Amino acid sequence: MLSERRSPAAVVYPPVRRDVRPLVWTENRLLLLDQRILPHREEWISCTSASEVEAAIRTMVVRGAPAIGVAAAFGVALEAIHGDVAGIEETIRSAAALLREARPTAVNLHWALDRMLEALERYRAEPLRLGELMLAEAQSIHAEDLEANRAIGRYGAALLGHSATVLTHCNAGALATSGYGTALGVVRAACEEGKKIAVYADETRPFLQGARLTAWELQQDEIDVTLITDNMAGHFFQQKRFDAVIVGADRIARNGDAANKIGTYTLAVLASAHGVPFYIAAPVSTIDHACANGAGIPIEERSAREVTHATGADDQGELHTINLAPAGIGVRHPAFDVTPAALITAIITDRGILRAPYEESIARLINPSPPGSRNPSPRLRGAGQG
Ligand code: MRU
Repeated sequence: MLSERRSPAAVVYPPVRRDVRPLVWTENRLLLLDQRILPHREEWISCTSASEVEAAIRTMVVRGAPAIGVAAAFGVALEAIHGDVAGIEETIRSAAALLREARPTAVNLHWALDRMLEALERYRAEPLRLGELMLAEAQSIHAEDLEANRAIGRYGAALLGHSATVLTHCNAGALATSGYGTALGVVRAACEEGKKIAVYADETRPFLQGARLTAWELQQDEIDVTLITDNMAGHFFQQKRFDAVIVGADRIARNGDAANKIGTYTLAVLASAHGVPFYIAAPVSTIDHACANGAGIPIEERSAREVTHATGADDQGELHTINLAPAGIGVRHPAFDVTPAALITAIITDRGILRAPYEESIARLINPSPPGSRNPSPRLRGAGQG
């Protein structure tokens, strides 16, 4: 006898651990996970030219300092692969120039493009193989960034106790990098070591990288995450909720001043007032050795519309954009702020943990103590020594 017919029950799947990646190279195309519509939809955008990659960076399909550097490198590779051999060098240089202007603050964009142009110098004598060789360079940048994040994670995890609550701002996670993340890489590595880590994620107005991206990617990894609005942070500091603040960076000056998502400076002041360690986690490609201090870091001013409007999904998953403010209102939208080095407890890099005075510890990254030196710098410490 047939069992009673029932409409199929909605199946609720538990969160599954996923290796979140924001960009994938496949079949000579760059696929970008559209971060403007996460977590409501997971859609990929396909890029086959540098101008498509530039538009994707500018409009925040892909964002986060290391990720936009990697995307830009692939943007140059796309032109090297698809461009006419005649004039290919000029095509590649124009692509790099276009991509360089996509966003101003994250120095990783310039770093990755400079590396692609150095590769062009190395390989220009082989125009027929230029596509293949430039692609290999972009793929190295991609792979090295993932490795850097794992190293940052290992160094940073040593700074956290067996059980800790970490406040983070914006998204310095897998979605902002090749994978794994910088600030969230530290959290992931600590969890992998068996530590009990809870994360508080600031929602990060106006683009909501915390509410939409950090919350989503930590959920995917089954990491304990609690979302708060930006203006709740002070209250939770007073309640002694946080053991550490860990954030990423878009550009670090020679003296250790660090630009990161707008609102970071506020957290650094709060952390200092409450005696909570404030850490920046970033690969060394985020350090701008040409920039003496934070005053020299260009701060991107984004559109008024990102402040006055918000996009979200209804219960059916349909996206809607709503207006939050009166028409014609004056708006400012600096997308980043600079945290002075004096408020930074340490900078967690892929080459170790940097401590103040940062002029010295950062300079030593370029001129390390000679191998075998009996007095390695106390300012640049390896894992477990921080
Ligand atoms: O405007 P965004 O989303 O690109 O800003 C991103 C940040 O501020 C991140 O914290 C920073 O790029 C570090 S990402 C590892």
